[in-house]
Amino acid sequence: MSAGRGRFIVLEGIDGSGTTTQTARLVASLRAAGHAVVGTREPSEGPMGLLLRQALTRRLVGISDRVLALLFAADRLDHLASLVEPALAEGKVVVSDRYVLSSLAYQGMRLPLAWVEALNAAARPADLTLYLDVDVRTASRRRHARGGPTELFDADPVQRAVARAYGRVVRKHARAQRVVPVDGTGTPDAVAAEILSRAQALLSGRRRK
Ligand SMILES: Nc1ncnc2c1ncn2[C@@H]1O[C@H](COP(=O)(O)OP(=O)(O)OP(=O)(O)O)[C@@H](O)[C@H]1O
Ligand SMILES: [Mg+2]
Repeated sequence: MSAGRGRFIVLEGIDGSGTTTQTARLVASLRAAGHAVVGTREPSEGPMGLLLRQALTRRLVGISDRVLALLFAADRLDHLASLVEPALAEGKVVVSDRYVLSSLAYQGMRLPLAWVEALNAAARPADLTLYLDVDVRTASRRRHARGGPTELFDADPVQRAVARAYGRVVRKHARAQRVVPVDGTGTPDAVAAEILSRAQALLSGRRRK
């Protein structure tokens, strides 16, 4: 099992699948149940994460796909070292909005997947990855309803490619990242309940040991 005593839970899915909504819900529910929880996200709040957000919103232009993949991997290792690993070592539950599978899907669809996998090989696997399964049309509708600035990967044809890429890497890394698919098309409450029950199964497994 993992090096730290805590547990590392990740939410993944295409843009608009609800990862940010459900990360917040899960953090709140686990806290209410008495767990020490750290909620976080990738790109992280660290220096490379800030750079990545600028690239994703096109405030920073001219970053090639390869450089973007390197920045994501660098941000991930920085995020692990500065926030995730210390929290896990203290026995906390860390819930992250996106992680390795996001890079394998988004960067791996434009670059050799093996290279993106190699860049991410040093990142510890998640103890549980909840993959929010939502069709491209529903996710697109939600993003448009939400509004806000458009990002680099927002266009619908791109999102169809992202969904295919996620499908591929979720299957390939299902065991390594402990992926559990969750139907993300239900109401926020229904999706949150399913996610909480999966997370509680993981956390109660620890207590029985
Ligand atoms: N189960 C749901 N049903 C209906 N609307 C939802 C559901 N979950 C989230 N939403 C809404 O859809 C929009 C997108 O959700 P959210 O921002 O959580 O997605 P996301 O996966 O984080 O997107 P992104 O990848 O763009 O950050 C938000 O306006 C949110 O309130
Ligand atoms: Mg989000």
